[in-house]
Formats: sequence, C-alpha cells, structure tokens
Amino acid sequence: MPLRLGVNVDHVATLRQSRRTQYPDPVQAAAMAELAGADQITVHLREDRRHVQERDVEILRRTVQTRLNLEMAASLELARFAAALRPDVCTLVPERRQELTTEGGLDLIAQRHSVGEVVRALRGAGIAISVFIDPEPAQLEEARRLGVEAVELHTGRYAEAPRGGEAGELARLADAAAAGAKLGLAVAAGHGLHYGNTAPVAAVPQLEELNIGHAIVARAVLVGMERAVREMKRLMERARP
Ligand code: PXP
Repeated sequence: MPLRLGVNVDHVATLRQSRRTQYPDPVQAAAMAELAGADQITVHLREDRRHVQERDVEILRRTVQTRLNLEMAASLELARFAAALRPDVCTLVPERRQELTTEGGLDLIAQRHSVGEVVRALRGAGIAISVFIDPEPAQLEEARRLGVEAVELHTGRYAEAPRGGEAGELARLADAAAAGAKLGLAVAAGHGLHYGNTAPVAAVPQLEELNIGHAIVARAVLVGMERAVREMKRLMERARP
C-alpha cells in the first residue's frame, strides 16, 4: 500500500504571526511542498487562531492540487466553516488553549456526545472524516461505531519515549494500525515525527498516510521547503519494501 506524506504547514504561519507580517506565507509553502512530492497539505485551524487563519485555509482550498486535510476541534462552529469550505478530509483533534501543541488523542468515549454531533454535521455536508486518537483498541472500536472513514494514530508517545522505550510504543502503533485496518478504517499517523524516527513508523504496512509538520518546517528554514519534503518522502519510501 503506498504511503502518503501530508505536510503540515502550520508553523510557517506561526513564524508569520510572531511578527504579524504578511510573510512567510503558508500558501506558498504548501505549493512548494506539493512540487517536492507532498501528497496532502494539512492545516490546523485552532480556536485561538495562533497560526493558521481562515484566510489561509480559504486560499489553500482554491490552490492545493493534492488533498487538503483540515484539522479542527470537535466544535459545531468549525463544522459549519468546514461545511462551507469543503476540505477533502476533516480531522477532528482535541484542543486546549494552554497547550504548546496537540498533546493527546481525542477521547472518543469520554466525548461521545460532542464528537458525535460534529461527525453528524460533517457527514450531512458530505465531508470525509478522520479522528486523531491514541493507538488504543477501545478508541478504534469507538471510531468504527461513529462511522468515520479514517483514524490518525497519535505517535507522540513513540516520539517522546525514553531511550529503550521506543520498541514498545512502536509495537502499540503497529497493533493499532493492524486493528484499525481490520475494522475497515483507513489508518494514518502523526505527531512528533522527524528525520530520525519516521522510518520505523513508515514501515508499518497498514499505514496509508503520515502527517508531519514541525520537523519539515524546521528543516525547511535551513535547507528550503523542497529539499526538506524530498528528503522526508525518500526516507518514507525506503522504509517500505
Ligand atoms: N497530526 C495531527 C493530528 C496534529 O495535530 C499534528 C500537530 O498539529 C500533526 C499531525 C503534526 O505534528 P508535528 O508538527 O509534531 O509533526
């Protein structure tokens, strides 16, 4: 199964917002990422709008040539925005204002009611839905019950595992990817992946997509977006037999 690379350009917008300038533009970054082989552009429209703005997402909807994945909190207001925008897929993520980045997966069981409402709203608008969850069997079961098309497994625990703990976390991811595929869900993964830890995740055969942001944008600052994306694509491809 081919493995897509979704490039998350949020942090191009983070740099722009830090000085409230017009540059650098995440829309330009997305175009360059696509030229270099990105299979998808991912953006997270946070409720506090700390990086990506509505303007960015609206322009991206018109310019992205591959797929546009809109990450958002499970809120009805954002679901209305998404229904009008029509991204190729909406990924529901948990969100807390104080966090530096998305810290854990969405708890589909604890938030069954609110997530269910948003899933129904997006489904009514005909939008494909993914949910960002921890790699746990109960969350996968609940995702299937919700009727979403896809799940994205949170790789943060793998990425942050202390030395020697990576193998256990990788096994958890691989088991969850296999279980998700068996349930008929498309399975993606992401968060905290970088040039040194992505290959073992890319080798998990049931994964269809990786979403990577911080590491690619950080490398792009030094070597340029096209080279940063090409290098990541190449190492993902080499990880697959
Ligand atoms: N996938 C999801 C659902 C995310 O929320 C994020 C972070 O915005 C990423 C992937 C990318 O994480 P990172 O920036 O650590 O590569």
